[in-house]
Order: sequence, then structure tokens, then C-alpha cells
Amino acid sequence: MGNDVPARTGSDVLDTGLAPLGNQRIAWADSHMPVLSSIKERFAKERPLEGAKIAACLHVTTETANLLRTLVAGGADVVACASNPLSTQDDVAASLVEDEGIPVFAVRGEDAASYYSHIDACLDFHPNITMDDGCDLVTRLHQTRADQVAEVVAGTEETTTGVIRLRAMEAAGALGYPIVAVNDAYTKHLFDNRYGTGQSSLDGIMRATNVLLAGRKVVVAGYGYCGKGVATRARGMGSQVIVCEVDPLRALEAVMDGYRVEPMMDAAREGDIFITVTGDREVISREHFLVMKDGALLANSGHFDVEINLAELDRMAGGRRREVRPSVEEFVIDAGEGPGSPGGGSGATGSPAVVGGKRILVIAQGRLVNLSAAEGHPAAVMDMSFANQALAVEWVYGQSRAGTPLDVRVHGVPAEIDSQVAKLKLEALGTEIDVLTEAQEEYLHSWETGT
Ligand code: ADE
Repeated sequence: MGNDVPARTGSDVLDTGLAPLGNQRIAWADSHMPVLSSIKERFAKERPLEGAKIAACLHVTTETANLLRTLVAGGADVVACASNPLSTQDDVAASLVEDEGIPVFAVRGEDAASYYSHIDACLDFHPNITMDDGCDLVTRLHQTRADQVAEVVAGTEETTTGVIRLRAMEAAGALGYPIVAVNDAYTKHLFDNRYGTGQSSLDGIMRATNVLLAGRKVVVAGYGYCGKGVATRARGMGSQVIVCEVDPLRALEAVMDGYRVEPMMDAAREGDIFITVTGDREVISREHFLVMKDGALLANSGHFDVEINLAELDRMAGGRRREVRPSVEEFVIDAGEGPGSPGGGSGATGSPAVVGGKRILVIAQGRLVNLSAAEGHPAAVMDMSFANQALAVEWVYGQSRAGTPLDVRVHGVPAEIDSQVAKLKLEALGTEIDVLTEAQEEYLHSWETGT
């Protein structure tokens, strides 16, 4: 640990010896996060987070490390745990503890008991700000420590699924303090959800399997921003993309974007690779497994591991389940009627069918494929997401300190923060834009002149 870093006890990481590698990789990410870096520099001068005690339940990645360093530069006391059991980068966790003196409770591959004990360890710190990705920290706090809720002045939430859960809490009258939906900032979801998820999901599938995407039929379930990103990138790799949707508007958008749109029951018969990004449960289940091709590959990029019904697949396999590559599990189920089964046409891989059975391959246990089988979104896109996080915390904490706390509900990110992040990113990219003339400005505020 460096001499100027305060020693901390009570962390739980895999191996502090991994710190040098983590430190090197955090520096690499930092060099791709100019917006966050400029906020860190300002925070170091202004110290707007002095007195803030932040518990951050986020994917413990190189990009998150740079966010936590920014919060510390702003004067905050920070602890962190994972927001998914499979997304922790153990070298990063080690470096945060060793090089930054930030207590971290996260080990890649931890079980549910360890995952929640780590969230509890962060809550033991008595945070006055929560920073969440998926709402597990906030629900745990509300469900198990009602007495501590009043200590929290505000929180932030990173992702679509978390915002949905928070809105449900708000509607049920269960939310105890104001939370900013960082996900809803344009400079978050337009870029992170679309380009981040698009690229990193395919990255995860490719790293795990090394499959050729060109010419394969890729089924994308869900056409929100994440689904749009995945579909666009898969098409760019030469795949034939089929989109499954339940929302008529989004389905229509997918049709107009040039995709085939089908119910999952039809897509299941033809797909080679399936990627779920719906945010809902059991999108792929028994009836779909039954008709899939031999060798069909399944991956999930939605927040929770509920989209592919793995419990059902496990039952259907009856123990015929094994790891065939790191991050890839093969389930053998009865051949059924699908293509690739004896007499049923060619399978997804072209290799001979298993005698008396059909193979279904699942990547990363149906957990977020981009973070479990790859490194998550690239730093350049997390730059904007985490700039929003840092500025949102500065805003809510500042409001609370000024005696004008936000009311207790889910808040959007103020438009000024959004446009500040966009401006800083454009500057960092060296992109100049036009400015309205006075006459143009005036015209946009007038109504008298028509045809
Ligand atoms: N969510 C998606 N990608 C991420 C990353 N690289 N770091 C933190 N959270 C993420």
C-alpha cells in the first residue's frame, strides 16, 4: 500500500497480490475517461463531497474504480461491493483496497450468501448516500435495516432494471429517500445501453465461444436501447438478426429498422445464437428449448439471470450438464422435434447430433454476458455514465447540505448535467459544433412567422 494511503481493514477481496495488475488496468481505463478525469480534477480542488459516506454497489471493474477515485477526490468516504456475483474483476478489487485504501467486499464467482453478506458489510458502514446498479443495495437496506433508512440523504441508480424496481418501490410507498435515475440521462442510456451493451455483449459471446457470427441467425429478445445496440452490432458482423418483442411500438421500430420480427416460439426453431435483453423473466423456457436446434447458444445481457429459464433446462437435462469451455456449459436434453435432432435438419453448429439428445449451450450461467465473459462496456462509454453518477451525487448531496433536499421519489438527471456531460465529451473528442445566431435563437422562440 502507498505511504499516503490510509490503511483500511475489513475488506474481502480474492487476493491483494493482484493489485499491481489491477492498478495498471485502472490506469488504462482512466486514459479513456477524459470527462470523468476532468470532474476528478475539479472535485480535488472544490471537495464538494466532504462529509459524504457513499456505499457503492456497482460492477467492480476498471471503470468503476475510476468513478470511486473521483468520489474520493471530491472528499467522500467510500466503500464498495459488487452488484453481480460474476462481474467482479478481482485485480481491480485488490487495487482499490491496496492502492486507494477503499474497502471493497467483492469476489468474482461468490455465492448468494457471500453476495448479500458483502452488501451488508457496506451497510454496516452507515452510508448517507447509496449508489446502486440494479437496486439490490437499496432493497436490502429497506428490507433489513429500516432504522438506517433515515440516515441516507439520497441515492443514485445506474441501470434500467434498478430504475424499474425503484419506481415500483415509489408506487408502493416503500421508498425512504430520493434517488436519481442516472440511467435516464440521455448521455447514459443513448450511449451506454446502446453502444456499450451492443459491443460488450458480442465481445462476451466471442471471448467465451470464438464462434463466427457471420452468416449465423442471431435472435435478440428485447428491442429497448440495449437490444437495439446488440441487434445493430450483430448485423454489422454479418449475422441475420431476428428480433422478438412484446411492445408493439418497439416491434414496429425493429421492422422499420429492417429486422425480421417474430414470436420467440418461431425464432426458437431457427436461431443459432440467442441473446436476451428484456429485463423480464423466463423469456426462453421449456417450450423453446424443446424446438431449438442442436448446439443452440444462449446468452443473457439483461441485468438479472432470470431471462433464460435455467432451472427448467437443468431439469430437462437431468444431470447431463458439463462445462465445455470456460464460461460455457452444455446441457443435453431429449432430442425433441427441433432441427439437428435425428431427422430434424441441420443443427446450429453443423456437427453431428449427440446420440439420443440435443445440446443447448449456455454462456456465463445466464448472467450478464458482457461483464461475466468479457470486461463490460468500454471505458470510453462508461466515461459518460460515470460522469453522470459523479455529477448527480454532487447535485443531490449539495441540495441536502444547502437544506433543500430533494423530495422522496425517483428523480431524473437535470438537463444541465446531461448537456454538460455531452459538451465535455465532445470537447474531449475534439469535435466542434455550430452555435445558433441571434436571429436563429429569436426565431426558435417566436410564433408569428409561418409560410
Ligand atoms: N456496466 C456495464 N459495463 C460496465 C463497466 N465496464 N463497468 C461498470 N459497470 C458496467
